[in-house]
Amino acid sequence: EVHAEGDLAGIHTGEYGYKYRTIDGLVLPPYVTPKRLAAAQSVITRADDICYCSFPKSGSTWLANVLYLMLHDGIEAEGDMPLRSNLHWMESSWTFPRTQAEVDAMPPPRIFKSHMPHGYALGGGPGKAPCRYIYIARNPKDVAVSYWHFESNQSWSGGYNGPWEHWLQLFVDGKVQRGSWFDHVLSWWQVKDAENMLFLKYEDLKRGFPSQLRRISNFTGHELSGEAFERVVNASSFQHMKQSRFANHQTMRGFEGFLRKGEVGSWKEQFTVAQSEAFDKLYKQRMAGSGLNFDFE
Ligand code: A3P
Repeated sequence: EVHAEGDLAGIHTGEYGYKYRTIDGLVLPPYVTPKRLAAAQSVITRADDICYCSFPKSGSTWLANVLYLMLHDGIEAEGDMPLRSNLHWMESSWTFPRTQAEVDAMPPPRIFKSHMPHGYALGGGPGKAPCRYIYIARNPKDVAVSYWHFESNQSWSGGYNGPWEHWLQLFVDGKVQRGSWFDHVLSWWQVKDAENMLFLKYEDLKRGFPSQLRRISNFTGHELSGEAFERVVNASSFQHMKQSRFANHQTMRGFEGFLRKGEVGSWKEQFTVAQSEAFDKLYKQRMAGSGLNFDFE
């Protein structure tokens, strides 16, 4: 199913079994084929569409759950999960639709997912397409650690089976799937002021979920009644989502799930002092002048 289009050419296997493909030099999962990516980039969207975007491991499953619940009065679907219900990921096409005609046949509101940097945004991106874009970003130290655990636990995507220090080097060099965290986040940050764009931070959702939920519902124009609002808050908690088959993607090929720790600062258990200092230096250099900052604890 992953390679449904038979497009196995161009898949590389790096050190420690890490599988990837490159498009324009950007490192991507094997299942993001040029054909799928082109279809996602050129799809024609509408103003009532929502596309949630992120670098991997930044809280996209959390956001997907919130969006689904927001559109369904805070009520989960029975034994289903967002990827297979109404959240569509064209660049991967594990789920339909794949073509414009199939997208056009989908009932509104349509929700799309993308892990691409802004230059490859679904439908052209904020400022060009009418779709509402929500980007969620997370501090890169926690992302690096979360991503390492994620890739170490499954074989259907990258299937990396190597040590942390080598992974961290790949992450720093922009050689993990989806490329450089810095390039990715800064590319979306540049368009943060577009009218159809909302930029969220994982750490803000952790610190004050209700106010971020209000931002999301104001942005998308989906009003929530008091009770539905409370249901969304409760069903979006880490504890609830972890035990929910709907939210945790547990049906995916022997995969443990998308909810590991769900904390800010779990990088401290993984980074050595030297690694942390070196990373902080790079972070300062790369983020300088951007006006974008993250909480690391
Ligand atoms: P950890 O590995 O640090 O636990 P993505 O969905 O983009 O792949 O991101 C996965 C990360 O988001 C995981 O981080 C996961 O635990 C965290 N996450 C998912 N749902 C969450 C929630 N409701 N609250 C806090 N963190 C959540």
